Amino acid sequence: MRIAVIGTGYVGLVSGACFSDFGHHVVCVDKDESKIAALHEGRIPIFEPGLDALVDTNVKAGRLEFTTDLAEGVKGADAVFIAVGTPSRRGDGHADLSYVYAAAADVAKAAEGFTVVVTKSTVPVGTGDEVERILREANPSGDFAVVSNPEFLREGAAIDDFKRPDRVVVGGHDERGMAVMREIYRPLSLNRAPVIEMSRRGAELTKYAGNAFLATKITFINEIADLCEKVGADVQEVARGIGLDNRIGSKFLHAGPGYGGSCFPKDTLALLKTSQDYEAPQRIVEAVVSVNDNRKRAMGRKVIAAMGDDVRGKTVAVLGLTFKPNTDDMRDSPAIAVIQTLQDAGAQVQAYDPEGMEQARKVLDNVTYCDGAYQAIEGADALVIVTEWDAFRALDLKRVKSMLSQPILVDLRNIYPRDVVEREGFVYTAVGR
Ligand code: UDX
Repeated sequence: MRIAVIGTGYVGLVSGACFSDFGHHVVCVDKDESKIAALHEGRIPIFEPGLDALVDTNVKAGRLEFTTDLAEGVKGADAVFIAVGTPSRRGDGHADLSYVYAAAADVAKAAEGFTVVVTKSTVPVGTGDEVERILREANPSGDFAVVSNPEFLREGAAIDDFKRPDRVVVGGHDERGMAVMREIYRPLSLNRAPVIEMSRRGAELTKYAGNAFLATKITFINEIADLCEKVGADVQEVARGIGLDNRIGSKFLHAGPGYGGSCFPKDTLALLKTSQDYEAPQRIVEAVVSVNDNRKRAMGRKVIAAMGDDVRGKTVAVLGLTFKPNTDDMRDSPAIAVIQTLQDAGAQVQAYDPEGMEQARKVLDNVTYCDGAYQAIEGADALVIVTEWDAFRALDLKRVKSMLSQPILVDLRNIYPRDVVEREGFVYTAVGR
């Protein structure tokens, strides 16, 4: 199959590289000349484990190309995947679809012969109808099928998620279009991944419902964690106790500082907007969004409480800044609210993150950025772990204790066993334990 992917952001680049690895011929298109120039030189603009090698192999095999020329990329393609950004629109939280619609209009003019136009970007229900209208308006004689094929990739594990998915969702009504999609995903049948076909609107909603459900699961366990602290229970025991029930499942039950990232915060908000437009309120998701928003600053206050309720003039070492490990992504990271809450209360912050320093500098001012974990800890009055990078799981606790003015450890990801740290003489605060 000949595939064009519009947008070389996270989703576009991972999808393009993986499709080419399946053996398809893929052209990735982006307007951003510097991005395409970097890709031509073999430099990957995002941090994703394994992506550089995958791109390199497939470029060398002649299956993966990059261009700024949309018409050139789309010409002769069997399928064009639209994978441009859908950020929250400033002001009202609706998904901003201007990039998707602009891409559709450009594709319409460049396509040759029957072309399947696939929305890979996360788009509200009904966007496929509008994409179809734009295609017909921009090219009345064109032959198109519009399909929704949402992605469920986790940052940091995106390649594995793409190649070994729990399922692939394809929504569309045109049999020719669905046949092309089956052919594109056929290599996955080796991994026995189910490719589920449904209506286009069903597929669009599946993406939002899935992310909202996962956000709900996290928020649920976070509130149970708060209750555990009050009643003297351990949320990890409770999570295991409920998670082994197959109907519940043990994943996404790790209590922590609240979810962040590029998807959950944006997609839950967009789902609420859609639900308002269609007068089908999603009260549960409303509660999830508000509970999670409040939680991030509450985690800052938790640190302040652990430090005796007064942090003025004190220094806090923060380890982990990205919204989760194995990414450099700072979008909606709980670390932002935690650090700002500490700063508002008069504390200084020394921080370190294995990959997120460059992005962190753009969003967090007045932080002393350090070259390593121990440098951040040196001379601080307390240590806070905000993101569970592996590198922070086995700190030399004796050394850490000797470097801190007070042995205060706040573990917002529950990565340390209480008995181990307390034996070393730390005053230990975790989440829900
Ligand atoms: C998510 C979805 O998992 C993916 O399917 C979708 O396509 C995009 O959004 P991602 O944003 O990469 O992927 O991160 P994910 O691993 O899902 O974590 C999201 C947030 O939830 C992180 O801040 C993480 O720390 C938090 N989280 C996750 C918890 O606090 N507890 C958990 O048990 C799981």
